[in-house]
Amino acid sequence: MAREILIPHQDIVARVEALAKEISADYNGKEPILIGILNGVVFFFADLVMKMTIPCKIDFVRAASYGSRTTSSGTVNFIKDVEIPVQEQDLLIVEDIVDTGLTLEQIVKSLKEKNPASIRICALIDKKERREQAVAIDYRGFEVEEGFLVGYGLDYDERYRYLPDIYVLK
Ligand code: IMP
Ligand code: MG
Repeated sequence: MAREILIPHQDIVARVEALAKEISADYNGKEPILIGILNGVVFFFADLVMKMTIPCKIDFVRAASYGSRTTSSGTVNFIKDVEIPVQEQDLLIVEDIVDTGLTLEQIVKSLKEKNPASIRICALIDKKERREQAVAIDYRGFEVEEGFLVGYGLDYDERYRYLPDIYVLK
């Protein structure tokens, strides 16, 4: 499939470092648990965590909703839950891209049931086009109006994840 570069790797790196600085300042004196949503988040997550200037813990959840299609099914199945106890802890959910918002809504709901001290959301890309569920994104890397994006962990049917830049599929 044809693709067009949208966000070069160097721009991603700069933005991720700025996000890590902002998050580190906001959580100063605390030790948040950063929870990555697998699989798309892996590169963003690693880059973000390594730029943190305060101590933090990491864990992951995995939700399946997309398969080989480019629109959300609207239902989320959890394949993997957090393993670190999150009760009374400060949680920062880290997501690659928010589209309809349905995945994040389900994940926030399930984590809230574990009674954490706080929950905030960090998303590399906020894609407005198909938002169905309002989500309060506390830390946002980039805002994108539309299109299907791949690269830097983002896939289309498991392809293109390895690319260092972010592209829009044509
Ligand atoms: P939502 O539930 O519609 O917000 O879907 C969010 C999830 O769908 C993200 O975690 C991504 O895995 C996937 N997704 C949404 N838009 C894109 C895209 O443009 N490229 C790749 N994956 C996407
Ligand atoms: Mg994802």
